[in-house]
Amino acid sequence: MDLVEKIKKLKKERNAIILAHNYQLPEIQEIADFVGDSLELSRIAKKAEEEVIVFCGVHFMAETASILAPEKKVLLPDMNAGCPLANMITAEDVKRLKEKFPKALVVAYINTSAEVKAESDYCCTSANAVDVVEKVPSEEVIFIPDRNLGYYVSKNTNKKMYIWDGFCPTHQRILPQDIEKLKKEHPNAKVVSHPECRKEVLELSHKIASTSGIIRFVKEDDGREYIIGTEMGILYRLRKECPDKLFYPASSLAVCPNMKKNTLEKVLWALEDLNPEVKVPEPIRSKALKAIENMLNL
Ligand code: 13P
Repeated sequence: MDLVEKIKKLKKERNAIILAHNYQLPEIQEIADFVGDSLELSRIAKKAEEEVIVFCGVHFMAETASILAPEKKVLLPDMNAGCPLANMITAEDVKRLKEKFPKALVVAYINTSAEVKAESDYCCTSANAVDVVEKVPSEEVIFIPDRNLGYYVSKNTNKKMYIWDGFCPTHQRILPQDIEKLKKEHPNAKVVSHPECRKEVLELSHKIASTSGIIRFVKEDDGREYIIGTEMGILYRLRKECPDKLFYPASSLAVCPNMKKNTLEKVLWALEDLNPEVKVPEPIRSKALKAIENMLNL
């Protein structure tokens, strides 16, 4: 039996669902029951009926699934698949920010640890960040940890924002010069970017959206060529779902080494051993859940 068949068989026996982020390797996307962005994947994790969730993404995503579905076993095929952006802020940092800005509510990007979420009032993802900041019941917002998403939100709200200086090292590699060069080579192409890109890149973009938002935009748009400002993994879905359109990655350096740590072999081993498991302990889980539910309820 080949690897894919083994995974499919064991997935049934274990009563498992496989979720994959849009940046995962093509072969992982192919075996997944659902491929999506952070918001979509957390919604599915919450309502999944299976006993086991194999989360092909990075650590904070598996943690979010475990927070939302504590009765389930959440497996992260490679425990070392972390998120450097999430690691740029600690719970202690958030406590200090709250003391410094007592009138502000804390909005934490989902790319944060469970401990940081537990100190936050609301979560947000790249798909709903503007909406969440607009709707939170305060005029001042502490926005953590991504400075670029924070900048993008601040351009779309009148609220006073205190933005943490974190960033995604993979999106940071996409430079405005890359976009300018590609625009010259492909004058009809639209620039579509993820809000984790540098602000100079965002300012050159026609459309800024979450990973699934980028895919939706391209599908519905009547253009034919696109410069894609995000991690390279998204190109697999774009090319598969829009075979008649042309996509130019903004930078071939935009490859997230953590997202690529999950492989078919590791998915199979995770199903065999029911390990590595991500489990968020109480009381961190209940506190973090409040911030995520506050987001989902908005
Ligand atoms: P999305 O929620 O847009 O998929 O983004 C997740 C992420 O970590 C982007 O780097």
